[in-house]
Amino acid sequence: MKKSIELAEENLIHSYNRYPVELDHGEDVYLYDTEGKKYLDFAAGIAVCALGYSNEAYKEALKAQIDKGIHFSNYFYSEPLKDAVKNISEATGLDKVFMANSGTEANEGALKIARKYAISKGYTNRSEVIAMDKAFHGRTMGALSVTGTKKYRENFEPLISGVTFCDFNNLESVKSAITDKTYAIILEPVQGEGGIYPATKEFIQGVRELCDKHDIVMICDEIQCGMGRTGKMFAFQNYDIKPDIVTLAKGVGNGIVVGAIATKKEVGEQLVPGDHGTTFGGNPLSCAAVNATFDEFKKQGILDNVNEVGEYLVSKLQSLKEKHSCIKDVRGLGFMLGIEVDIPVGDVCKKCLESGLIVLSAGSNVVRLVPPLVISKENVDEMINILDSALEQ
Ligand SMILES: Cc1ncc(COP(=O)(O)O)c(C=O)c1O
Repeated sequence: MKKSIELAEENLIHSYNRYPVELDHGEDVYLYDTEGKKYLDFAAGIAVCALGYSNEAYKEALKAQIDKGIHFSNYFYSEPLKDAVKNISEATGLDKVFMANSGTEANEGALKIARKYAISKGYTNRSEVIAMDKAFHGRTMGALSVTGTKKYRENFEPLISGVTFCDFNNLESVKSAITDKTYAIILEPVQGEGGIYPATKEFIQGVRELCDKHDIVMICDEIQCGMGRTGKMFAFQNYDIKPDIVTLAKGVGNGIVVGAIATKKEVGEQLVPGDHGTTFGGNPLSCAAVNATFDEFKKQGILDNVNEVGEYLVSKLQSLKEKHSCIKDVRGLGFMLGIEVDIPVGDVCKKCLESGLIVLSAGSNVVRLVPPLVISKENVDEMINILDSALEQ
């Protein structure tokens, strides 16, 4: 494994600090490296592999689609495409869908659609966006421009201009940032990379009211917190609001590369041929993955599992917090949980990995748990034992 990793590093651009582990395959909610070591997976490929690694119906659906055709192009319709946009529309409660390929690309498209909507309403001078501190929306130039963490942006400036960052969960800060040039407010209902911060009801409902009052497009980035992760199909559904645009990726294809933008009818309808496009977006293979994922969510009762096992997981984490003074907070929703610690979070993740548990970090001091949505209480017990001893050490 060591030799293989060295060879990989000869050609890889070193844009990630990877663990010295070469993965081979997954089974159930476990991953195995090329030397046969088994890892309990509480990261799910960064909140992606919702169904775990052994969902046969999902795999069969992909194999069947590979036999029929992987890619046709957006000059044509296909049945998987028709079903994917229907599934996404029904689940979000939004009418119109654009199929993309990743989270960052979904956010790029969302910003363009919001801008076009403003122009179509006669707000031709509107060129400003409000985003949140600690927000993460992606790495391409537009999505990066609205990403709150300065260190991600500063080597690539100038980015798109007219972005104001506000304090998340501080409605006054948003109110005072609105100008007659604001065309969109973008936020994650539960901030992920920034450290697992759920929005308060008061905040997110307040943002919705401000958007209504000023005719501003509200964009909810559900790339990490969507697709069942918080116990509802989409996190905004925990707050009794409806955004104008929702962006999706990660779990929506359960590992096949796919993103999507869902919009209210009057917003999405402003986009006309020539405004936006992609070669791969909406291809039959990625759409088959979306459809199989939605089917399996229903058949497996995924949301019930997130709610039931999620509650159990939180109660176990609260007990750990009482035992270990280094745990300062446990927060999040469903299977999107953060454990804030006052010891180096990288050391905690590393210790867990050595003992056969994969967990992630978020922000500078948070252990992030985003497991496959099919984990059981037994998996939780196994995880807690390993985390307990890692914290002890
Ligand atoms: C909330 C959120 N938005 C956008 C992105 C970017 O998605 P992608 O990495 O697929 O471009 C991420 C990725 O972590 C994310 O968590």
